[in-house]
Amino acid sequence: MRKKIVAGNWKMNKSLADGLLLVDEIIRGSHNNSVLKIIAPAFIHLAAVAEKLKKEEGFEIAAQNCHQSQNGAFTGEVSAEMIASAGAQYVIIGHSERRIYFGENNGLLAQKVNIALTNNLIPIFCLGESREDRNANVHLEKVKQQLKEGLFNLSPSDFSKVIIAYEPVWAIGTGVTATTHQAQGMHHFIRSEVNRKYGKDISEETLLLYGGSCNADNAKELFACLDVDGGLIGGASLKAAEFNSIVNSFG
Ligand code: 13P
Repeated sequence: MRKKIVAGNWKMNKSLADGLLLVDEIIRGSHNNSVLKIIAPAFIHLAAVAEKLKKEEGFEIAAQNCHQSQNGAFTGEVSAEMIASAGAQYVIIGHSERRIYFGENNGLLAQKVNIALTNNLIPIFCLGESREDRNANVHLEKVKQQLKEGLFNLSPSDFSKVIIAYEPVWAIGTGVTATTHQAQGMHHFIRSEVNRKYGKDISEETLLLYGGSCNADNAKELFACLDVDGGLIGGASLKAAEFNSIVNSFG
């Protein structure tokens, strides 16, 4: 059976003190050990959040990005090795905000996936279409291309470590959620593309998260979809009660 995951992407939010307070509140209200909770704070808070969570059952840590090189003269950048050494097990790669605001393309993201795996980090690879893509009915093609160029160069054993997060860009931070029909439809499409490339066994084990205005009110319905294995949560992960309520939405 596939794992159930709720990942909170804090983006560029929270001071260190506020982040640690949020973690305390999440721990206090967290009673669902059947769900893996992943917390993704800013780089600068990774070690402190990891330290706080290291004895807590069912919690792991993600960075929100990494550089594509192992190390070197890249002022201001953070490597996968540094992230792992700070206590994280995961790294979000290709978030739509990285693609849109920082011009990250599939070729670069494929390099980031490789360096993450080399350093024993599990990539949470984000993909998804824009509003224009969906209106033009090219959303499946767009996601297929992101899969092909970003992930499908991996060996089967490397691919099987990766988590995929579907983020309809038009639903991120907008309060608009994909309908369960749209979410399940795309997740099913992604799983069938993985099946075509890597076969049934790997496709049935691939973890697919939904991200895009997932909150305490809609999580239950989204998580009930056959091919939705959890959520990548932005805004709603910044409040402990809401995050925990999303975690408890799993039946
Ligand atoms: P929102 O939940 O705020 O829409 O953000 C989703 C997201 O970007 C998760 O990484």
